[in-house]
Amino acid sequence: MKTVNLGFLGCGNIGGGVWHLLNEMHDEILARDGLDLRVKKALVLSIPLARTDVPAEILTESAEDVLTDPDIAIVCEFMGGSHPAADFMRRALENGKTVVTANKMALALNWHSLQAAADKSGAGLYYEASVGGVIPIIRALTVSLEADRIDQVMGIVNGTTNYILTRMAREGSDYAEVLADAQKLGLAEPNPEADVEGMDAAYKLSIMSSIAFHTRVTVDCVYREGITGVTAEDIACGREMGYTLKLLAIGKRRGDTIEARVHPTFLPADHPLSRVDGSLNAIFVHGAYCQDMMLQGRGAGDKPTASAICGDIVCAALNERPQRASLRYTEQPDPALTLTDDWTCRFFIRVSAKDAPGVLAAVASRFGQEGISIATMLQKGAGVSGRARLIFITHEASEHAMRRALAALDPDIAAVESVIRVEGE
Ligand SMILES: NC(=O)c1ccc[n+]([C@@H]2O[C@H](COP(=O)([O-])OP(=O)(O)OC[C@H]3O[C@@H](n4cnc5c(N)ncnc54)[C@H](OP(=O)(O)O)[C@@H]3O)[C@@H](O)[C@H]2O)c1
Repeated sequence: MKTVNLGFLGCGNIGGGVWHLLNEMHDEILARDGLDLRVKKALVLSIPLARTDVPAEILTESAEDVLTDPDIAIVCEFMGGSHPAADFMRRALENGKTVVTANKMALALNWHSLQAAADKSGAGLYYEASVGGVIPIIRALTVSLEADRIDQVMGIVNGTTNYILTRMAREGSDYAEVLADAQKLGLAEPNPEADVEGMDAAYKLSIMSSIAFHTRVTVDCVYREGITGVTAEDIACGREMGYTLKLLAIGKRRGDTIEARVHPTFLPADHPLSRVDGSLNAIFVHGAYCQDMMLQGRGAGDKPTASAICGDIVCAALNERPQRASLRYTEQPDPALTLTDDWTCRFFIRVSAKDAPGVLAAVASRFGQEGISIATMLQKGAGVSGRARLIFITHEASEHAMRRALAALDPDIAAVESVIRVEGE
């Protein structure tokens, strides 16, 4: 039997879930793995205000009690935010303690200094729960698929936005109405910005793409558009044309170029990601050898997240040699790979057009000048002020060419109302 003392940095929703799992599963883990896992200290901001049923004698308001205790071998970080969480994790690693974290923001923004501290001291850095909650995407990419060449990771990695889009699609409701309801139900934060503006998904994509493509894809390289501009009308028009709208985190490698983007995306209704509804997460991966595969599960919540975190804890406690991301250790991206913001995809374009002869030809001609051809068109009768709603789905086109074509459209003839990228065909 091996006794392993753990220290928690943070003990709220996730820390409490991990505490409960470790208590409930203690004897099974001991019998199966010979590990006696004990939580020695748990840092909170304020003991009197702590929202936890972890025994008071374990709680502390001093990070030093966790970071410098020689008996604590594994530090588990569930504080959230970049600072001081990243500083605390770095200090724990420098002190030779293995770190397990669920914090995508701190990891995505400080990964290299954390990995450097881990490399220097020989401690482990584990972060399975930082992307997709319980979905084992980090292990899939770093262990199971290590020998493959991954060219696509495409995921629904934010449960709040997937819940909002699912309800907008089912009920035909507007974004603001569903968001307010999600906030009442506790499914969206009082300040939802990080979720609805795509920041949370961008942190996760930065981590997934860096691992999948063996290069550094920093958060500021991720193109980002949230769901605040999505309308029930777009969702309904897309559905009529056979598409489902999702907020996707997309990382692709095409030859020597990498693209990383988070934006609302139409997928064919029969794509596996189209059927992932509500607060579920799913990540679709394509590789030269593994081909298409998809992992699906709960991306948040204390129990599913605790399952992923405790898997890391057991793995760290069992292995003398720490698990490492198969990431080139450099502040710079791989020089052989270029990050591009000029990807190609199909586009859904909705315009309010003058109801007059020749308008369609004028729009098609603008697109044609940029080498963009139209695959499908739908007209939705006369809209505001006698103008017609026209919806185009294009063939594959370059992002830059599309921006130029749209900028050149005369708004008196065709005012652009929505531009949504189409993937998965
Ligand atoms: N919630 C999810 O479903 C989920 C899923 C996957 C990953 N995660 C990640 O897990 C982490 C924790 O999330 P959570 O939902 O558990 O957050 P939470 O409920 O707000 O808990 C945060 C904990 O950290 C403590 N804390 C915060 N700042 C501190 C500071 N400066 N000094 C000392 N203690 C501090 C808080 O103390 P008090 O108790 O005194 O306030 C609380 O115990 C985040 O990084 C999140 O992104 C969450």
